[in-house]
Amino acid sequence: MERSIRCWDCGREVDDPYFDSCPSCNGLLEVVLDLEPVKELRPSDLASRPLGVWRYQPFLPVNPDLAVSLQEGGTPLYRCMNLAPELGVRELHVKYEGANPTGSFKDRGMTVGITRAREIGADMVGCASTGNTSASLAAYAAKAGMGCVVLLPEGKVALGKLAQAMFYGAKVVSIEGNFDDALRTVRELAEKRFLYLLNSINPFRPEGQKSVLFEIMDQLYYDVPDRIVLPVGNAGNISAVHKALKELVEVGWIERMPMLTGIQASGSMPLVEAFDRGSKDFTAESAPETLATAIRIGNPVSGRKALEAIYSTGGHALPVTDEEILAAQMELGRREGVGVEPASAASIAGLRRLIEEGIVDRDEKVVCICTGNALKDPEVMISQCDRPVKSRATAESVMDLVR
Ligand code: F0G
Repeated sequence: MERSIRCWDCGREVDDPYFDSCPSCNGLLEVVLDLEPVKELRPSDLASRPLGVWRYQPFLPVNPDLAVSLQEGGTPLYRCMNLAPELGVRELHVKYEGANPTGSFKDRGMTVGITRAREIGADMVGCASTGNTSASLAAYAAKAGMGCVVLLPEGKVALGKLAQAMFYGAKVVSIEGNFDDALRTVRELAEKRFLYLLNSINPFRPEGQKSVLFEIMDQLYYDVPDRIVLPVGNAGNISAVHKALKELVEVGWIERMPMLTGIQASGSMPLVEAFDRGSKDFTAESAPETLATAIRIGNPVSGRKALEAIYSTGGHALPVTDEEILAAQMELGRREGVGVEPASAASIAGLRRLIEEGIVDRDEKVVCICTGNALKDPEVMISQCDRPVKSRATAESVMDLVR
């Protein structure tokens, strides 16, 4: 596969794999693929491979012979027959990313990122994380036999994610400060070549994350939905989905794009604020706060890419409160049997608001990407539920209690 790494801002080609931004203008990097050979293919040519990230190898810029995989992707797309009429929309699908090997969408980018690390011969990888990236990286580093360092904002990582990073053997460092401070620090470590950085600022990560969009299209038989709604934190995912859409248009597999709609927590919404001003750039927030700790980010690295994704598809950016997030999380669990973590429920909470505000047409076909598993944050789940009731071990006693 012919490809280059280029600056998204000035177009300069960048060779050094340890650079995470453009040496000329400090801009964001991206992989540019030569898709000419893919134009010869149709989606059905890939259909004999299992659904998952590596089905889409013609769109991936790494050597598949070196692939480090935990069989990521291939997650369900649930049609929500109970919730759709309740929210007031014609067709609602939930892409359930909690079914990935470490329980979040991060595994899609990580299989490609760690394969790239193997290609360049890295033996130490690292990231800053609100939790899920660290859980994912720790698992893939274990599989690849690499050392792994993860920097987490002190006291602000959900229990399940912290447990995973420790369990898979990463060196876990608790940083005094928030995610943005942790990211700045780990970038310094990468600059010193102490580790190979696997945050989504690494352009190989979004390449794997494109696969969530490819799968949605396959699962909908290439009937393009009207809108895709997703939570936005560091803004890697929405940018990756947009890149995937642009590539599918380029190879002629789709003709139009869904409206990309990003949801942020109201205590942590620099991109919503930029969108409301009609601005292509955003102002970082210094003290982001939300119980959806996965998206507690004030200075999203790919924020400008995200704004372009939203503007160029006619989408939207909207905030939701923590209360709305919790209500949506419960609703999805109790009406559809789908357990997602708070940040993921932001997409459902956002959809409800979009419908109420008349931004989403009731005739739309909508896909919400639910990025992580409910078990990631057991404390938030439990805090919303009744405690178990105690009973003697007799049928009568149980019937009395639960009647
Ligand atoms: N949902 C979940 C469950 C996440 O963990 C994240 C990001 C997002 C949504 C937002 O995605 O950053 O691509 O806009 N989590 C990162 C982490 C920041 O460190 O795990 P994004």
